[in-house]
Amino acid sequence: MATFDISINGQQHQIEADPDTPILWVLRDHANLVGTKYGCGIGQCGACTVHLNGVAIRSCSLPISAVEDKPITTIEGLSADGTHALQQAWLEHDVPQCGYCQAGQIMNAAALLKDNPSPSDAEIDKAMNGNICRCGTYVRIKAAIKTASSRIG
Ligand code: FES
Ligand code: FES
Repeated sequence: MATFDISINGQQHQIEADPDTPILWVLRDHANLVGTKYGCGIGQCGACTVHLNGVAIRSCSLPISAVEDKPITTIEGLSADGTHALQQAWLEHDVPQCGYCQAGQIMNAAALLKDNPSPSDAEIDKAMNGNICRCGTYVRIKAAIKTASSRIG
């Protein structure tokens, strides 16, 4: 066990955990932030995507020891009140079906639009390629990203 001081959604947390503990379990079990989901556990589905220092990462596959002083942002911290352009576009397009993958989809899309506010169709496809949706909501996901992009790009 070790003690880690980490910033999650702008708040400082002191976490006692094994250094190998994946960030996903730190978020869910220690910080009680359960919006980030466990899908495959091996970095292959994107359900667990959060931002580490503004970069989209697979939280199931990175240990807490890798966080250091870099801030983490989860779906709960993407905006204070659900008004991020992507969250609004997601509502307008009624994107989710079961919803399980959607936090990861939005966090991955948010990292894309932060780096590239006006992505082409091909750039959206490439960036979102690793985020799996078993309900097949891909068409609506892409439409919502384009709507959000049109407002911020
Ligand atoms: S649960 Fe992390 S990529 Fe699937
Ligand atoms: S909405 Fe069900 S897995 Fe994506």
